[in-house]
Amino acid sequence: MTALIQIEHVSKFYHMGGETIRALDDISLDIAQGEFVAIMGPSGSGKSTLMNIIGCLDVSDEGLYVLDGKQIHSLKDSQLAEIRNRKIGFVFQNFNLLPRLSAYENVELPLIYRGLSRKQREPLVLQALEAVDLLDRRKHFPSELSGGQQQRVAIARTLAGGPPIILADEPTGALDSKTVEIFRRLNEQGRTIIVITHDRQVAEQAKRVVRFRDGRLVN
Ligand SMILES: Nc1ncnc2c1ncn2[C@@H]1O[C@H](COP(=O)(O)OP(=O)(O)O)[C@@H](O)[C@H]1O
Ligand SMILES: [Mg+2]
Repeated sequence: MTALIQIEHVSKFYHMGGETIRALDDISLDIAQGEFVAIMGPSGSGKSTLMNIIGCLDVSDEGLYVLDGKQIHSLKDSQLAEIRNRKIGFVFQNFNLLPRLSAYENVELPLIYRGLSRKQREPLVLQALEAVDLLDRRKHFPSELSGGQQQRVAIARTLAGGPPIILADEPTGALDSKTVEIFRRLNEQGRTIIVITHDRQVAEQAKRVVRFRDGRLVN
């Protein structure tokens, strides 16, 4: 079986004031459907750059990226956006919750943008809030929630759309051990999870750890 994510000899360069930074240097990596992968490595080693490419937020300068059988590196921005919308759920470091919306409404918002009716939205929002153990906090505003709870609202917002792949860039830190448990549960339900983390405990939950150094994979 071919991998869900196939990265072959991918390089990415940044040009800054006459200098070329080799953010990714000939990376090859396969990730199968249903894997739980932790990405570790020092700051500046290329973790976020790879995550942006996997998430179709950016494209490589060299090499090949095939996602679910589709060649990504050659697509236009609009095609990338569509794949992102259907396949990828992002959990970022800053949760970007809207302060004037309740937990429920924050989770609901992307579904409104998708054009779903109130009736279609409600079960998706409630399921997502339940998956992160926050059903009882659905009427709270972000300022009335702990940092860890806010993080879980952001995860619920990601989940509500049902993406098969979840990408998280350093979401845990010292925040909330429950988040890790949630990732583990989502993985058991068959989702593919890729987490950038500095936390050994998070890495232990993952079935596989990929380590970066200076834009290269080390093992
Ligand atoms: N937009 C950018 N412009 C220029 N250099 C960048 C940009 N993004 C990242 N870099 C550089 O690329 C390298 C890898 O960065 P990054 O992938 O963010 O590392 P990590 O996530 O592991 O901390 C670093 O040297 C960083 O300074
Ligand atoms: Mg980073």
